[in-house]
Amino acid sequence: MKPRHFVTFLDLSGAEVRSLISRATELKHSKAIYEPLKNKVLGMIFEKSSTRTRVSFETGMIQFGGGAIFLSPRDTQLGRGEPVDDSARVLSRMVDAIMLRTISHRTVEIFAEHSRVPVINGLSDRFHPCQVLADMQTYFENRGDIAGKTVAWIGDGNNMCQTYIHAAQQLGFTLNIACPEGYEPELELIEEAATFVNLSRDPFAAAEGADLVVTDVWASMGQEEEQALRAKAFANYQVDSKLMAAAAPNALFMHCLPAHRGEEVSAEVMEGPQSVVWDEAENRLHAQKALLEFLLNPQT
Ligand code: CP
Ligand code: NVA
Repeated sequence: MKPRHFVTFLDLSGAEVRSLISRATELKHSKAIYEPLKNKVLGMIFEKSSTRTRVSFETGMIQFGGGAIFLSPRDTQLGRGEPVDDSARVLSRMVDAIMLRTISHRTVEIFAEHSRVPVINGLSDRFHPCQVLADMQTYFENRGDIAGKTVAWIGDGNNMCQTYIHAAQQLGFTLNIACPEGYEPELELIEEAATFVNLSRDPFAAAEGADLVVTDVWASMGQEEEQALRAKAFANYQVDSKLMAAAAPNALFMHCLPAHRGEEVSAEVMEGPQSVVWDEAENRLHAQKALLEFLLNPQT
């Protein structure tokens, strides 16, 4: 039987996401020792840096009684040109699940196509579904179901923004995206989610009445040399107190982190009462534990 994967947010139905969120919250509050993945191993391939993703997956596996192996292309044969599909076939005969953070989304897809075990996208150039799962958990815990609510995405139409487009479709919220010209998400993704997504250039119009305001760095990993150019293009897209004032009075602020205070977000908003960024980071652990439990389906 083909394993279930989590390559994009669309790999889970809305009902499955809701059930994972409630399981994640349950796991978060449980003090009991629970080791459903005893002797199970998660292989983790990182082509890019990470703090949260690595630590949350590794901690989650240890707490579940299993373990995780950190693999970087620098010291595996992947970095010396061993084909991705061969690597997927070999690794998936040894480990019980594989998490990848890749430069190209296609690498995660190829892994999933050839793996015998569940493959999880830990960020690619196109999507970051684990982060948005944790974001949704954070929203549900603070405000209840997100269906029918309005989310404002301010800034780059990047991997996070594109995953929010998927989440809007699956969970039924409106996503107002404000981004500068030339930094839009892929058109096809917007078209597929057309009833849920609005695209504009005006951050204030996007934020108006929003229940959740979200942003991310102006230059993602791998775009470091574009930093100066992007800082110019995004100059009017900072989430500051003025912009938050346009949102609903009880709006939340989220950022996947790492954040650059004074660029995409002001220090005041980051540290302000509407910011839930630290809960959001913590929830990576709980949401991914629920995800691992679901994908690996241990018979306990
Ligand atoms: N938000 C997130 O994925 O953080 P890391 O890059 O530290 O894993
Ligand atoms: N958009 C960012 C997210 C980091 C977690 C990046 O890809 O670098």
